[in-house]
Amino acid sequence: MQPISTDDSRCRSATIEDAGRLAAIERAAFDPSRYDGLITQRQFRHFAARAHAALIVIEHDGAVAGYALVLFRRGSSAGRFYSLAVDPAIQGAGLGSELFRAAENAVLAHDRSRMRLEIREDNQTLLNRYGKMGYRLALRVPHYYPDGCAALRLERTLQLGAS
Ligand SMILES: CC(C)(COP(=O)(O)OP(=O)(O)OC[C@H]1O[C@@H](n2cnc3c(N)ncnc32)[C@H](O)[C@@H]1OP(=O)(O)O)[C@@H](O)C(=O)NCCC(=O)NCCS
Repeated sequence: MQPISTDDSRCRSATIEDAGRLAAIERAAFDPSRYDGLITQRQFRHFAARAHAALIVIEHDGAVAGYALVLFRRGSSAGRFYSLAVDPAIQGAGLGSELFRAAENAVLAHDRSRMRLEIREDNQTLLNRYGKMGYRLALRVPHYYPDGCAALRLERTLQLGAS
């Protein structure tokens, strides 16, 4: 399987065989009482096989330890960053950041020039984090979340060879 970014990357495209492991990571990483939209094994199989999605996995100690998912819409020059999760047993070791970089590279590999993502307006930590990475506000959608919080759409133009 082809690495997504550099030769020494631990990231690669997911296969349908990864779906069971990814569903287990999803359930462990996201609190099911807070997230009602957990990605199921069936959905992971679907995304792994689908041309309009980039499902990237990262390996650690010989096992899949996390994933990043980007979706593509026909006619759009942007990839939409949809989800990211790392096995709680190995969080904080840089895998999430590596997956995110691989997701940006996957957008370029799909001949798109921008990454787009949505965050909650009250998530200042994420806003700062993405701001430092060059993401800028493209759109504010009021009352987007069930609790009334607005969504912020952030975008960044990607360049080959840059991170
Ligand atoms: C977010 C997550 C994938 C980061 O993985 P990780 O391997 O621990 O990340 P790293 O070690 O590379 O990064 C260290 C820090 O950057 C954060 N981070 C890195 N990439 C991130 C991203 N794209 N989005 C949000 N946070 C990110 C981590 O949460 C961590 O924050 P902290 O230092 O305040 O604890 C992981 O914590 C996780 O699976 N959380 C639960 C699911 C989730 O919230 N996913 C993100 C929303 S879709």
